[in-house]
Amino acid sequence: MTIGFEGRVAIVTGAGNGLGRAYALELARRGAKLVVNDLGGARDGTGTSGTAAQVVVDEIIAMGGEAFANAGSVTDENNVAAMVAEAKAKWGRIDILINNAGILRDKSFAKMSIADFRLVLDVHLMGSAICTKAVWDTMREQNYGRILMTTSSTGLYGNFGQSNYGAAKLGLVGFMNSLGIEGAKNNVHVNTIAPAAATRMTEDILPAEVLEKMGSETVVPAALFLVSEGAPNRTTLAAGAGGFQRAYITLTRGVRVDADAMSPETVATQFEKIGGRENELLPENAFVQSALGLGKL
Ligand code: NAI
Repeated sequence: MTIGFEGRVAIVTGAGNGLGRAYALELARRGAKLVVNDLGGARDGTGTSGTAAQVVVDEIIAMGGEAFANAGSVTDENNVAAMVAEAKAKWGRIDILINNAGILRDKSFAKMSIADFRLVLDVHLMGSAICTKAVWDTMREQNYGRILMTTSSTGLYGNFGQSNYGAAKLGLVGFMNSLGIEGAKNNVHVNTIAPAAATRMTEDILPAEVLEKMGSETVVPAALFLVSEGAPNRTTLAAGAGGFQRAYITLTRGVRVDADAMSPETVATQFEKIGGRENELLPENAFVQSALGLGKL
């Protein structure tokens, strides 16, 4: 089996560096036409270089591919609308959107300003929403679309000093969960990747011997599968350093309590049982939990 992207048009945000660049290059190698978005800022979101995206476009063109650069921000609705319009004018469609752009403003919550909390949410969560909104109608009309969100182990499981980032990153999983339901009937699939790779985002966080094993090429296979024709819908895959895992949000069977025993004390005494993981469920949608509460499952 070969996974090809011939004739596909892909937008990769934050593709001037790190993982986004690696995704864009491999998509181009496999036949896709690329919109390379990157405002070329620093890791904390300050500044712009204007050339980061163009450098990657030049690499794609040098390998015989087709691409153009967008050096604006994913948070700028006008910029994103112009980027999408340009891609449609050039190539007539948009098949793939990889929401990858991101920044860090790490600090313990005690020391974090609300401005830093808001900015991180704005780039990761609102940036992904703005880019997704801009391609959504096109994908639905085409009856084809593949969208990838980027979460993080911090979003899924937590990390000291990253409450803003974790909130944004798990928000993207929630975004996928509902969006994938809405897109399914028009063959628009939405998935999420939780990468682990040696980039400027992790270069001073992890030891060198670990980083050595975490090249972007260990994440690219999962990302490309998740935006391919055969992609699943509403799946979260973790990838990095040779490992591939799938993350689930499960639901315990819990307990049902009669009206006369309904009290905080009952919850306290039943707490262990409520958390018991035997016969755990993997709910398909939000109604499963209510059905379980009603004793219907
Ligand atoms: P990176 O810093 O190399 O790349 C991020 C890119 O996004 C940069 O080129 C930056 O200029 C661009 N960017 C930032 N704000 C932007 C904006 N407003 N508009 C357009 N572009 C913007 O970092 P890396 O590691 O490649 O990260 C890619 C994604 O993967 C991010 O969403 C990050 O949170 C996520 N991630 C990375 C992990 C890792 O181990 N490297 C772990 C978990 C998640």
